[in-house]
Amino acid sequence: MQLLLIDDDDDFASSLTVVLEASGHEVTPASDGDMGVRLAAERDFDLVITDFRMPGLGGLQVLEKIRAAKPRLPVILMTAYSTTERAIEATKAGAFDYLMKPFDPPELLAVIERAGATATAARPVSLKESASSSSSSADHEPLIGRSRQMQSLFKEIGRLADMPVPVLILGETGTGKELIARALHQHGNRSSKSFIAVNCAAIPESLIESELFGHEKGAFTHAVARRIGRFEQAQDGTLFLDEIGDLPASVQVKLLRVLQERKVCRVGSTQDITLNVRILAATHRDLPAMIQAGTFREDLFYRLNTAILRLPPLRERMEDIAPLSSSILTRAARELGLAQPTLQKEALSLLEAHPWPGNIRELENSLRRLVIDSRGLPVGAAQVRQLLSQAPRTDLAPDRDVPLRRLVEKRLAEAREGKLPAGALPALLDDLEQQLYTTALEQAEGNQSSVAEWLGVSRVTVREKLDRYQLLPKRPRREP
Ligand SMILES: Nc1ncnc2c1ncn2[C@@H]1O[C@H](COP(=O)(O)OP(=O)(O)OP(=O)(O)O)[C@@H](O)[C@H]1O
Ligand SMILES: [Mg+2]
Repeated sequence: MQLLLIDDDDDFASSLTVVLEASGHEVTPASDGDMGVRLAAERDFDLVITDFRMPGLGGLQVLEKIRAAKPRLPVILMTAYSTTERAIEATKAGAFDYLMKPFDPPELLAVIERAGATATAARPVSLKESASSSSSSADHEPLIGRSRQMQSLFKEIGRLADMPVPVLILGETGTGKELIARALHQHGNRSSKSFIAVNCAAIPESLIESELFGHEKGAFTHAVARRIGRFEQAQDGTLFLDEIGDLPASVQVKLLRVLQERKVCRVGSTQDITLNVRILAATHRDLPAMIQAGTFREDLFYRLNTAILRLPPLRERMEDIAPLSSSILTRAARELGLAQPTLQKEALSLLEAHPWPGNIRELENSLRRLVIDSRGLPVGAAQVRQLLSQAPRTDLAPDRDVPLRRLVEKRLAEAREGKLPAGALPALLDDLEQQLYTTALEQAEGNQSSVAEWLGVSRVTVREKLDRYQLLPKRPRREP
């Protein structure tokens, strides 16, 4: 990543630069706030890391100026004089995160990685632009939808925006749950406060609790500094609990308690902090079925389900495909620096007839590929047909998207508790191997020779593994 490092302490900056460059980042130094703000405006960075206390412009002012000029650019603040107030000020003012000096290099690198992963999602939305669906301005990603379902959803957002109740957003993967959550925040009376999004599925189980609730220094072995949890960071604003269906049972209990008592207590602390946080939650999972299966707490569900917004899958709102496509093509062409292709009528009809199991996200991916392949020429039916025949499969089994790290942790926890018989390790390795072959086979669209070649094993081995894990090759998806 391209990093801008603003710090008046040259020694500290150069030792940090060594660490960052060793992990493959490119670092541009700035020795004071003014210079940092100027560089941030002039050049394209992926991330800014700035000191808090500096002569001239301080960290908070740097943050404000950068937020005004480039709202999507994540900023991390570092401070040697830590107070909770300051940390909350910083995150409320829109800092992606803050770190207390001295910190461990791995800690900073982890934060940088998260910033990189979420930077693309942290875009402002504008509901007002949704009426004129095809006009997308440079910085806003408008919520598009001329279908009856989306229009009534937009009104529902307006009704719910200021209500002090949690909102549960349900819908298949890629239908726009996160965008709706952001719209609820931006149109509500907390819009000037922070919107904090937490992806419950992406954080390793062992870290979720301190991510959400925070911890005190020394609360556990790696707690080298106090950490303000996401709940506290969202104080007076909105906390978006994304993929809530993936929250482990142990954390579900604790979350329920925080929601009931409206108080949070950092791990390792005895002091409760009263919360004023709007809760939004989303999942693509079937929560009632999970309750039946005993994997999601019914009482937590009832805490969250006062207001439910259901996002219809794209295949049930065909009329949105045309305006979505034209907005996506414009944006993709601009982002890729390529000419924008036009869709011929038959090409659009094919897009409208496609089932889009991955919904808008899949539509985006496909159109992005069209922009690259079309070289600005009009796109006809044949090209779309070919594109759709190689559309990525998204009909994965429900647990395939659980991160590997989570799987390992789960198995290890079971093993530690003696719940796995002798042979726990081979079983774990089997799980990992199964994931490897499943994913490889999907990416190879069922071509076993490719899998063998990629993994450097014989075709006989591939066949054995597929047999063993019952991964019967499927043919690529066809148009209905
Ligand atoms: N109404 C809409 N108008 C324009 N773009 C949209 C709309 N809904 C979704 N998108 C775009 O589609 C993509 C997927 O949306 P989003 O991430 O909100 O979906 P999601 O439901 O959270 O998906 P997942 O379950 O995979 O997390 C994003 O790039 C988003 O900007
Ligand atoms: Mg999402």
